[in-house]
Amino acid sequence: MPITPYVALDLQQLEKNVRGMIGKLIQQGIEHWPHIKTHKSVELAKFEIECGASGITCATLHEASVMAKGGINNILLAYPMVGEDKCHQFVQLAKNINLRTIVDSLLGAEQLAKAASQVNIIIDIYIAVDYGAHREGIQIEDLEQFALSIQKLSSLNIIGMFTYAGTIYQYRTEPEIRRAAKAEADLLLLCAQKLKAIGINAQRTSGGSTLSSFYANELNGITESRAGNFIFGDMNAIYGGIYTQKDCALTIRTSVVSIPVAGYATIDAGTKTLTSDQSAESGFGYIVENPDIKLVKLNEEHGYLRYDPEKIKLNIGDILNIIPNHSCVIPNLTNKIYALNNNEFDHIIIPDARY
Ligand SMILES: Cc1ncc(COP(=O)(O)O)c(C=O)c1O
Repeated sequence: MPITPYVALDLQQLEKNVRGMIGKLIQQGIEHWPHIKTHKSVELAKFEIECGASGITCATLHEASVMAKGGINNILLAYPMVGEDKCHQFVQLAKNINLRTIVDSLLGAEQLAKAASQVNIIIDIYIAVDYGAHREGIQIEDLEQFALSIQKLSSLNIIGMFTYAGTIYQYRTEPEIRRAAKAEADLLLLCAQKLKAIGINAQRTSGGSTLSSFYANELNGITESRAGNFIFGDMNAIYGGIYTQKDCALTIRTSVVSIPVAGYATIDAGTKTLTSDQSAESGFGYIVENPDIKLVKLNEEHGYLRYDPEKIKLNIGDILNIIPNHSCVIPNLTNKIYALNNNEFDHIIIPDARY
């Protein structure tokens, strides 16, 4: 076994999560284009495709180019391309694979169209609409006018509508999450209808987070989901009520290295392993062995545990497992994910596309 701290991945649970999510989506006639920013691994992306995904979603050009080099041909780069250099790199990649992206500004669209026309290709694009987080996307009232301007750019082909409804993570109960999932699908459907009404027959609709896709039967109107985090699970999925601790495939294994005072222990995982993502409920991560042990503070290589020494016995050298608050940030911090088969070391998975 590797030395702590390390990132452990339960292969049996991973497969259950992947097949479970794809099964739910396929049952509703929804394609899965999982977001691979969660794991950044060619091996895991290929496994998702082997299990039924139609393509993958990336957040950066770097991720997309690593995945393309790894042999993946259907990629949605779900990030607006802005800037001549980025657009130039995008079209170089798009010459060789089915690479599509999103647009939400005329400037970005014009730069992409110019780069595409220079290499004589046509780029498939989705128009991004803002679901309410104000991260990206046009406002729905501007859709028709915007779409007509994009349609004039002959190197771009509008294939559908896109949104990311990350605001769903504020909800904790099934009815609230179901309502938000349905609202996301309704928005995309309405946008597709608006496009149709002005003669643009672009009927693909790309949405779907892990939370909304878990209730895929609410996503009527979405043709493809980009759910990504489901592959590992984390405290966000647990707080959303869709996973329990045993569904989380990825954990951080750490050792107790010091107990300076009774009730105060230190582990060898800090911000360089866990990031500083904090949650009101689980501090800097959830201790699987005993949730009454709280991870209350992190330095770069140190984690500060607090517990009641009258009730809990911790010893130097004890190994603890942590479920991260947000698993998507973890592979980006390590060169190696230790894949475990029935709790025995199996092989190393490389997060190939990490920076
Ligand atoms: C554009 C986009 N699509 C899909 C996802 C995946 O959502 P989730 O992490 O809930 O699976 C993300 C995650 O941040 C995203 O930014």
